[in-house]
Amino acid sequence: MRKNIVAGNWKMNKTLQEGTELAKELQAALNGKAVKCDVIICTPFIHLASISQIIDTKTVKLGAQNSADKVSGAYTGEVSAAMVASTGAQYVILGHSERRAYYGETNAILKEKVKLALENNLTPIFCIGEVLAEREAGKQDQVVKTQIEESLFDLSAEDFGKIVLAYEPVWAIGTGKTATAAQAQEMHAFIRQTLAGKYGAAVANETSILYGGSANAGNAKELFANPDVDGGLIGGAALKVDTFLPIIEAF
Ligand code: 13P
Repeated sequence: MRKNIVAGNWKMNKTLQEGTELAKELQAALNGKAVKCDVIICTPFIHLASISQIIDTKTVKLGAQNSADKVSGAYTGEVSAAMVASTGAQYVILGHSERRAYYGETNAILKEKVKLALENNLTPIFCIGEVLAEREAGKQDQVVKTQIEESLFDLSAEDFGKIVLAYEPVWAIGTGKTATAAQAQEMHAFIRQTLAGKYGAAVANETSILYGGSANAGNAKELFANPDVDGGLIGGAALKVDTFLPIIEAF
């Protein structure tokens, strides 16, 4: 179901102690507050079991930043979707551009990850987005469409309906260079149209599509005001309650 969502992606930040402290602070800041969006924090794997005990999932939901493309077995260092789910986490970011760029995650690998996440009742927050050279060459629509087609379009309409998408133009991530509200809306509308072409308008209209890339308290309101932008996937600004809370309150 289409929802407004503000999700924090902590990336590789915070020790266990720092992370549990941040989760406690966020929970305390949201207690008794009427917010108009779902709030999710996506933490490093090792934080999940502890933070799951701290948060009240009615106000703060929990996700991982990755999960394996294999079920279980001799895959040293990997963490499976079943393991993530067993911590109490409900979400998993998949296909983040940093995973694609630094860890060789292809559309085909991501297809397996999505399948296993869904089998374990995790909601994938599936990331898509073009790099700067692709945007400068006017290829952003094709790049994003191919990412969606190759990783997600084998899913049934029912399974696709369980996915959250996050459009993160790689040139906007951690650079302080946000996509303009118009650029975000244009791409989100294109993504929704692509989904409608495959699954029909009803499924497309029910899909939450988040924007990510240097979103902050200063630009969140304008970004979220777009009809096809259903929230944000927030990196740097999610690492402090002071900077994350105003983004949540932008709805
Ligand atoms: P920044 O908000 O730090 O640009 O990161 C965005 C992001 O990659 C979220 O997944």
